[in-house]
Amino acid sequence: MSETQSNYNYKVVRQFAVMAVIWGIVGMSVGVFIAAQLVWPDLTFGIEWLSYGRLRPLHTNAVIFAFGGSALFATSYWCVQRTCHTRLFAGPLAGFTFWGWQLVIVLAAVTLPLGMTQGKEYAELEWPIDLLIAVVWVSYAVVFFGTIAKRTVSHIYVANWFFGGFILAVALLHIVNSCAIPVAAFKSYSCYAGAQDAMIQWWYGHNAVGFFLTAGFLGMMYYFVPKQAGRPVYSYRLSVVHFWALIFTYMWAGPHHLHYTALPDWTQSVGMLFSLILLAPSWGGMINGIMTLQGAWHKLRDDPILKFLITSLSFYGMSTFEGPMMAIKTVNALSHYTDWTVGHVHSGALGWVGLVSMGCIYFLLPRLYGLKEMWSTRLIELHFWIATVGIVLYIAAMWIAGVMQGLMWRAVNVDGTLTYTFVESVKATFPYYVIRLIGGLLYFSGMLIMTYNMFRTIAAGRAIDDAPVPRPTAATLAHA
Ligand code: HEM
Ligand code: HEM
Repeated sequence: MSETQSNYNYKVVRQFAVMAVIWGIVGMSVGVFIAAQLVWPDLTFGIEWLSYGRLRPLHTNAVIFAFGGSALFATSYWCVQRTCHTRLFAGPLAGFTFWGWQLVIVLAAVTLPLGMTQGKEYAELEWPIDLLIAVVWVSYAVVFFGTIAKRTVSHIYVANWFFGGFILAVALLHIVNSCAIPVAAFKSYSCYAGAQDAMIQWWYGHNAVGFFLTAGFLGMMYYFVPKQAGRPVYSYRLSVVHFWALIFTYMWAGPHHLHYTALPDWTQSVGMLFSLILLAPSWGGMINGIMTLQGAWHKLRDDPILKFLITSLSFYGMSTFEGPMMAIKTVNALSHYTDWTVGHVHSGALGWVGLVSMGCIYFLLPRLYGLKEMWSTRLIELHFWIATVGIVLYIAAMWIAGVMQGLMWRAVNVDGTLTYTFVESVKATFPYYVIRLIGGLLYFSGMLIMTYNMFRTIAAGRAIDDAPVPRPTAATLAHA
């Protein structure tokens, strides 16, 4: 089919969807490897680029930006075209975002193990890569908002608001936080110093969670849950309130990462307060997503894609309940520095971000290869159960370990000396690291099953580059 304005651009969606799965395998295998290093610390074989400190940021960058990022590009490009009834704006630029983003990922995979880092969590990449990210991201914004501008329907569907908010906020966060003075090809110093540097870093860090790991994925939720359930969004009005409340509140919550530090005390209190408020929009959104199934609950029984989507929302609810609790200063005094934080992160990351992405990719792949469904629905079901058991093992182990560590560290004898040495707490944590490794291995096995199913689907189908845009009707002109 020729590439005309009346065709949707499926090619770039397909490229990103396939790469999301591939990068998922890469990022999670590194996750499993570093989880194994915490069980067997000698697993570096004396090779410095296999050391924990270098592989950990490789893991976080690969799962968040390569796996999560590719899934976000794929789903947002699919959603914005289809709800705007028009082809993606600036096709070659969309192609550039794909190749540019893959280049960023490859450069990260080379430089991080070599130890090149700015040392800012989730913003480790050195300045030349940061510049490339900025160019790719601004191009992404041009493609996305350009498509919205040339839409042939008047309404802008709510999922696009979430995707749009995510794209704008990430551009702002990345450009401000990465501001640095280069001193060599791969070495730079932050433009900010001391407490300001910490404040800006965690304004970035928390909003990376709020916008990269949340708002974008909520965009997915608002498009794919109603599609897969065959039902309209439970409350459209609530979805709009959800959007504005969420993006307003997230921006202020960052200081909860810096409780009891040199940051002025009042900023810590503001961070705590806004984190508590954040519970309301988060749960409003979760309820809106889950209640979309109203009248179609029976579909959950035999539709594994819906199982992925709805279970992801329950994990979203869980981690957005836990987060505000951990933001309370007295609770944070116990949880900070412990594996409780790692448990919280992965209930959001594996449960929410991971499962919702997988559900959406299972939705997309057959359509991108001209098929009705994936090669094997039973394998999707198997993937779902393996992944869910894996998550439960992972997060339960980390919660128990975290609370135990916190309590052991603060325990004092009557004479004021510490009851436990630090190494005693490390010893006590060992069994939980083994359980986490087993949970991680299960989750990773689920990804391997997904990859197999994906390649069988690709082999059974035919790659679709362009698909016809339906003719606008009076109804589509009025609504999405
Ligand atoms: C209402 C929503 C949420 C709030 C208020 C919240 C709050 C918190 C708090 C208080 C911490 C611990 C900070 C510390 O002690 O250092 C934390 C850590 C973290 N949270 Fe959340 N959280 C929320 C939702 C989520 C979700 C949905 C995800 C993932 C998808 C997530 C990902 C993370 C990450 C990655 C960290 C670790 C940051 C680090 O590297 O130290 N959070 N969050
Ligand atoms: C097979 C699956 C996975 C395994 C086994 C795994 C394992 C790990 C391990 C061992 C750590 C280091 C914890 C520490 O330093 O104590 C970690 C950190 C982290 N992982 Fe994963 N991970 C997996 C999947 C994911 C996914 C899918 C995401 C995001 C979408 C993710 C996001 C993160 C983040 C943000 C951190 C940093 C947490 C913090 O600083 O508190 N992980 N992971």
